[in-house]
Amino acid sequence: MPDHSRTGTFTDEAATGPAGSASLVTLTGENSHVFPRELDRPRPIIERGEGVWLYDTRGNPLLDAVSGGAMITNLGHGRADIAQVARAQASRVGYLYDQQFTSEPHEHLARELTSLAGQGFTRVHFVSGGAEANETAIRLMRSYHVERGQPSRTKFISPAQAYHGPTMTTLGLTGRPGLQTPYQPYIQQQLHIPPSSWPFDPSGEGALAALDELVSTHGADTIAGFFCEPISAAAFPAYTPPQRFWTGLAERREQYGFLIAFDEVVTGIGRTGRWFAADQIPLRPDIITTAKGLGAGYAAIGAMICREHVFDAIAAGSRAFEHGHTWGGAPSSCAVGLAVLVPPVVSSLVVMRRVEAGARVLPGV
Ligand SMILES: Cc1ncc(COP(=O)(O)O)c(C=O)c1O
Repeated sequence: MPDHSRTGTFTDEAATGPAGSASLVTLTGENSHVFPRELDRPRPIIERGEGVWLYDTRGNPLLDAVSGGAMITNLGHGRADIAQVARAQASRVGYLYDQQFTSEPHEHLARELTSLAGQGFTRVHFVSGGAEANETAIRLMRSYHVERGQPSRTKFISPAQAYHGPTMTTLGLTGRPGLQTPYQPYIQQQLHIPPSSWPFDPSGEGALAALDELVSTHGADTIAGFFCEPISAAAFPAYTPPQRFWTGLAERREQYGFLIAFDEVVTGIGRTGRWFAADQIPLRPDIITTAKGLGAGYAAIGAMICREHVFDAIAAGSRAFEHGHTWGGAPSSCAVGLAVLVPPVVSSLVVMRRVEAGARVLPGV
């Protein structure tokens, strides 16, 4: 049981590891009021970070090789320049609801993201994180078909070995029963294909055949979209299907009339050496979602970016895209997003370094 007399504070005594020891100062669920993900996992108490280093409350250093643990802090910890932008924006106006208001950082960041996404992407809807961005994409793909008079299109297909977030709908996009237990009763099951993979389907033809079979079983007029990570993050680390899979997927989009969304929550904003992994793939998705690196750990922000023809379905139809998340487009988060991306020269250097490093690392992999 946590010691309630310490509520609101914690000291070295509340943590494991003797005072003066070089071992990290940690807490488990036993000695904390936080409801942790894993009750028995000791979590280091981090006081500050600088670049790739984190320091616990006794100053013990810890190399952060996982960008804050969730592939977020792409620009390193302790960036005073980004913190200063957040502070300045919060002092002017930190929050506005995007249904009723807009702001310069909101508009400016949307403009920047569409220009970085290129390839005909013209509109951005902001949210607070990756699952929200994916949920927004799902709502938009569904709305697109409803607006165009095809309400029978309700189903999504995705590779089974994937991760798209912890919400009920995004968990449904993941065909991994282990991740869905015990929430299965609430999860709307979507359709899955086995991912093409180098040991089992190196050509990508197997995954395409599975896609054809699903479409033929369920009917093309029931399929709303195909959802995938262009390069897998955690579920199938760094894997991307062969070219043939992507060209075959593009052919099937034409043939069957569904939309394609790329989940770039991890791969977006320079992680793979381009602003978006989509730039490296011979298929132009209709929608890209992104999050993590966009706030780089300095703001909770995500984005759903779409091409003009998707937006047009709403513009020519009901002219309303219902529901929004409270923090979507808040000036304070958008200002941080801009500080991460602009001036592009700074961020480009980071991206280019990844391209160069990738060229060195790849031959050895
Ligand atoms: C590929 C991918 N999509 C979506 C998500 C969900 O993002 P969030 O945790 O910000 O909701 C994650 C999180 O790790 C992810 O890796």
